[in-house]
Amino acid sequence: DIPKFVKMVEVGPRDGLQNEKNIVPTSVKVELIRRLVSSGLTVVEATSFVSPKWVPQLADAKDVMKAVHNMEDARLPVLTPNLKGFEAAVAAGAKEVAVFASASDSFSKSNINCSIEESLVRYRAVCAAAKELSVPVRGYVSCAVGCPVEGAIPPSKVAYVAKELYNMGCFEISLADTIGVGTPGTVVPMLEAVTEVVPAGKLAVHFHDTYGQSLPNILVSLQMGISTVDSSVAGLGGCPYAKGASGNVATEDVVYMLNGLGVKTNVDLAKLKLAGDFISDHLGRQSGSKTAIALGRV
Ligand code: HMG
Ligand code: MG
Repeated sequence: DIPKFVKMVEVGPRDGLQNEKNIVPTSVKVELIRRLVSSGLTVVEATSFVSPKWVPQLADAKDVMKAVHNMEDARLPVLTPNLKGFEAAVAAGAKEVAVFASASDSFSKSNINCSIEESLVRYRAVCAAAKELSVPVRGYVSCAVGCPVEGAIPPSKVAYVAKELYNMGCFEISLADTIGVGTPGTVVPMLEAVTEVVPAGKLAVHFHDTYGQSLPNILVSLQMGISTVDSSVAGLGGCPYAKGASGNVATEDVVYMLNGLGVKTNVDLAKLKLAGDFISDHLGRQSGSKTAIALGRV
């Protein structure tokens, strides 16, 4: 049995663009968000309020947010690594944020320059400040299957971090295969461990497609009761602090599979493809979505 409706969380403007070397103009980012929302996506992660020294591409977070924060029919969460980022996000009009922890200490160090435990202290402060303002906080667990430095990550470690984020008030926990090494063989035991401590209805899955395993991984996640899926239009993306990681699973490919399964998403695939074409044209490369490429031929 799989869910009848899947909530798609589009992360292209954030996870997708953060990895692009050439700076994408703010106006292009804003137009991309606008097109994604008009394709029916109701959650679009817009940008990150992180250090511009760490992620130069998103140094215009404030301007992007100011341009889109009043967009109707959409929730536009942003990443906030600490209170400084949270305050800047709220000042720019963000109404929802996300914190990002890791199940690997090595990755935590390279991504946010602190240990897992130190990050949880920071995120408790962000959650407390957000609660005061009724701002919903999403929590990510990176390296939920594997870490570029430590290799395989024990499911119990992922469950521990997920539970900590849930306990501090995150309304949803996104389990991320940052480097895309998972297969159903490793994803299922990880999900079994996490669903023992956080209800499946509060979980999302976030697959990078490095080894082409995202669609089977999403399918087994749906079979385990998860109904929120992260993806990136045209398969853009990757984490600049996870060497060798490729983009997220392409939103077009996920929607095509869900359409085939009779699972509703409310996303218009044709309009979504146009949003993907828009950003792929701007970046001067072919879409990373097989569905988008196939639709372009017919
Ligand atoms: P740090 O260097 O340890 O920070 O970085 P610090 O507190 O020592 O401050 C150093 C400087 O950064 C100071 O400025 C601060 O003001 C500034 P200076 O005095 O040198 O001019 N600073 C900030 N500026 C803007 N916004 C802020 C902020 N905080 C401090 N929020 C820090 C620590 C967390 C800031 C840094 O490591 C950072 O920004 N990391 C973000 C890295 C990132 O964005 N990674 C990609 C997103 S995560 C991801 O892609 C994974 C995910 O997709 C799931 C998955 O696939 O796994 C979510
Ligand atoms: Mg990611």
